[in-house]
Amino acid sequence: MSEDEIGQMRPENFYDEYGEKEWERLEANIHRKMEFESTVHYLKEYLPDSGKVLDAGGGAGRYTIWLAERGYEVVLLDLSEGQLRVAEEKVKERDLEDKVSFLKGEIRDLDFVSEEFDAVLCTGGPLSHIVDEEERKEAVIELKRVAKSKAPIFISVMSFFQVISNIMSLCPEEVVLLPEYLETGDYTEEMVQKHSLEPTFTECHFFRREEFEELLESCGLTVEKIVGLEGPISELVDIEKFEEESTEEDRKIVREMVEKTREDPVVAEISSHMMAVVRKA
Ligand SMILES: C[S@@+](CC[C@H](N)C(=O)[O-])C[C@H]1O[C@@H](n2cnc3c(N)ncnc32)[C@H](O)[C@@H]1O
Repeated sequence: MSEDEIGQMRPENFYDEYGEKEWERLEANIHRKMEFESTVHYLKEYLPDSGKVLDAGGGAGRYTIWLAERGYEVVLLDLSEGQLRVAEEKVKERDLEDKVSFLKGEIRDLDFVSEEFDAVLCTGGPLSHIVDEEERKEAVIELKRVAKSKAPIFISVMSFFQVISNIMSLCPEEVVLLPEYLETGDYTEEMVQKHSLEPTFTECHFFRREEFEELLESCGLTVEKIVGLEGPISELVDIEKFEEESTEEDRKIVREMVEKTREDPVVAEISSHMMAVVRKA
């Protein structure tokens, strides 16, 4: 693997390159839309009516904008300068600059005083991009530190089982990674090099539900809920065929199916992303 390819596996480089596609991601198809819609459903349920919110690993700013449009004061923090630029542009286009500030930063080492925020988001998998177990714990402790007592913290991660169907349907040459993946839940530069593969994503850790819950509880957080954001539709169907052939009414039925099933513990395991709503104990 060349130096360039190794660089691609660092999240900041991957997301710099990904640019505007990260903004488009949450509207690409019904599967991605459900990630957004389910997240928003739980934001509405748990957020305080007003206050200051940290959008950590906020990427292109979809949730920052949703929050700012509802009157929250938002700080969007991200490792990727490319993502920060896209987010700044989207915020400017909507005249929301007075509601949002931007900061380049790392979720493991947040440059904020303790208890600064009324709510904290870390959605779409920033925690999954930390492959070292101790470092993931440091990140969760930081997210907790900057949240006020009893403030809701929303953390979504990428889940373990989606990778198996993804590999089999999209990159069958990566099947050789499965024995090690089953042991660790990791996708790393070392694994890719060992099998002389091309990198297809950044380094990542994919979570089982129980492991996620244990991590959060070990950091002194009370878990209110863990849900499967995209529900049973995840990567398990031919999404493009469904997009082409389904009617508005079909999509309404699928949405309702996700709404009804996303809190089932089995569904969190098979969803592409699972989200925890937690509070300081
Ligand atoms: C898939 S995007 C999610 C964006 C947005 N939060 C969402 O839910 O759509 C993941 C983002 O996390 C950022 N990220 C990854 N690791 C990070 C870290 N350790 N600290 C801060 N941001 C990180 C990436 O740069 C990227 O913008």
